[in-house]
Amino acid sequence: MRTNILVAGSLNLDFVAGVATLPEPGQTVTGASFEWIPGGKGANQACAAGTMARSESVHAAHASEREAVRVEMAGCVGSDDAGAMLLRSLAAAGVEAGAVERVDGVATGAALINVDASGQNTIVVIPGANGRFAPVAVESLRGRLRECAWLLLQLETPLETVTALLRAARQEGARSMLDPAPAQPLARGLLSMVDILTPNETEARLLLGRAPGRVGPEDAPELARALRAVGPRAVVIKMGDAGCFYSGPEGEMAAPAFRVTALDATAAGDTFNAGLAVALTEGRPVAEALRFANAAAAVSVTRMGAQTSAPSRAEVERLLASPGA
Ligand code: RIB
Repeated sequence: MRTNILVAGSLNLDFVAGVATLPEPGQTVTGASFEWIPGGKGANQACAAGTMARSESVHAAHASEREAVRVEMAGCVGSDDAGAMLLRSLAAAGVEAGAVERVDGVATGAALINVDASGQNTIVVIPGANGRFAPVAVESLRGRLRECAWLLLQLETPLETVTALLRAARQEGARSMLDPAPAQPLARGLLSMVDILTPNETEARLLLGRAPGRVGPEDAPELARALRAVGPRAVVIKMGDAGCFYSGPEGEMAAPAFRVTALDATAAGDTFNAGLAVALTEGRPVAEALRFANAAAAVSVTRMGAQTSAPSRAEVERLLASPGA
């Protein structure tokens, strides 16, 4: 049984401003706080998966029964202080970072994030070194792909590299989970190599070439089926506080979100994917894995920041066992 998870993707230093309300175009607002926090959709998934995989379970028996999941990260950072900070964050989460290259002459990726009082955010990403994660890196990752259960991808690194990784994962017997964020149109050829596609509703509409517009949970089944028709083996539509909807070979199912007080939604989607990958790697059935992922995302929104909000396994388990859950 394969028990490794390989996350290939972006590493960013997040510059996070807390504001009462998000600024409108042309508006200047006074912030309430400012922090530098390790982020990047790829590194967030890796840190959340690493933290959940290695931290103690509240169920003593479960700890000895479950296979130890090992999490690895591949990507690029600059040879600067931001890159060093991101590597320290991966190490602190127990993530093996031997495939994260330090590139000279380019800055580590950065993200400018505003978070409002309700926990909603706006994000501007400056790719920097993430743009240097080239398809040539894929050959050196084949050995890791041969050993991994799940390859986790997002869209903050060059699309050619994502495509080459999906192809290599197929060839080496690893399953793939693609978070199509930031949203962009994707070719059928790429989508047909994906095992689980995890868009939010906006990304789902964009992938289907539909005009942006309000979508509700009632739209999720149709969106998921339409997306499956263009290639992925399974689709999970992520709907934030409305939970998620799965359509795949095991059937269709909705999994409700957990009720928590949201402080910051940054990286909630990344944490969801990490939780889903950890639970599936441990051999849990899809319905259970979706619940685990929802709980992981819910814990993450109760804290500020991206990698600073990665939940421990015990926190996820306590939420899963809470009254009314
Ligand atoms: O998904 C949240 C992440 O998006 C942030 O950490 C930021 O770096 C951007 O990549």
